[in-house]
Amino acid sequence: LSVKELVESVGLTSVPFNYIFNNTESDLHYMLPQPETVPIVDFSLLTSHDPDQRSKTIIQLGHACLEWGFFMLINHGVPEMLRDEMITETERFFDLRAEDKREYVGKKLFDPVRYGTSFNPNVDKTLLWRDYLKIHVHPRFNAPTKPSGFSKVLREYCQKTRGIASELLKGISESLGLAPSYINEKMGVESSESHQLLVANMYPPCPQPELAMGLPPHSDHGLLTILMQNGIDGLQVMHKGKWVSIKPLPNAFLVNTGDHMEILTNGKYKSVLHRAVVNKAARLSIGTAHGPALDTVVSPATELVADGVGPAYLGIEYRNYLVLQQSKTLSGKSCLDHLR
Ligand code: SIN
Ligand code: FE2
Repeated sequence: LSVKELVESVGLTSVPFNYIFNNTESDLHYMLPQPETVPIVDFSLLTSHDPDQRSKTIIQLGHACLEWGFFMLINHGVPEMLRDEMITETERFFDLRAEDKREYVGKKLFDPVRYGTSFNPNVDKTLLWRDYLKIHVHPRFNAPTKPSGFSKVLREYCQKTRGIASELLKGISESLGLAPSYINEKMGVESSESHQLLVANMYPPCPQPELAMGLPPHSDHGLLTILMQNGIDGLQVMHKGKWVSIKPLPNAFLVNTGDHMEILTNGKYKSVLHRAVVNKAARLSIGTAHGPALDTVVSPATELVADGVGPAYLGIEYRNYLVLQQSKTLSGKSCLDHLR
């Protein structure tokens, strides 16, 4: 049963025991306002033909990756209408009748479209206040057949975010002192083989938000994740040992570095822990995870491994990394720890 169905079927006034998350006292400080805000990167300056503007922005981008692993991306060029349509169509998917979504339930990791609840209900000790839709959208495009307008919007949205990821990866390469095409070439972006997974997270209204958890602390598997939401906040990022609530600017994307960026940069740009708390209002977030090609074995770039130090991570085929993550509960950086 999805959380959404649970909430809608019985008019819940409390969180059922199997969803009660072990939130500690100190965890609850997320209720307090926090002054720090994530860095802002202006995409139009990053892609500017003015070399001065571009190199200044690359410095900011490198700084954001080094200090936060998270930044807000403004002036990214994705029309507001497309973002809105993407949110509407995704909401429509979650609103479909259970029988219309059934063919996507119980699917395996590499099945094209997968709809489910929690993270991995077979191994999760406590269920998460979250339903999800995961779609492999590149190198092969897939889409659910319903709602009818979804496929077209999804295709366009994924293409746009892929273009953004590719430009960001150029800037990130340069921020590391590498040729702009370095990451894109190595990761199969240039050859159009790179893997892109769309993950939509539906967090239904929760009667006691402080008792449940949408997504527990984790890091993302890929190189970069590009995220947007429906105007309701809930994302928190671990920064300097504290959870910081993120309030994105209305039109911005949130971008974060993933485990494969950490591997590739030999730990210079770390993947960052983040989590999603829930609210009394329904929250929808849509992320696209941009990874290397599935058959790429990613290991630290030799250019970034200091003499006499050696690589800090073992190489692993991206496909196998995804399998590894799926076999575990979603928790911290447990997968990355396997490669040290
Ligand atoms: C995620 O970590 O993939 C999603 C976070 C969010 O819902 O904001
Ligand atoms: Fe994530």
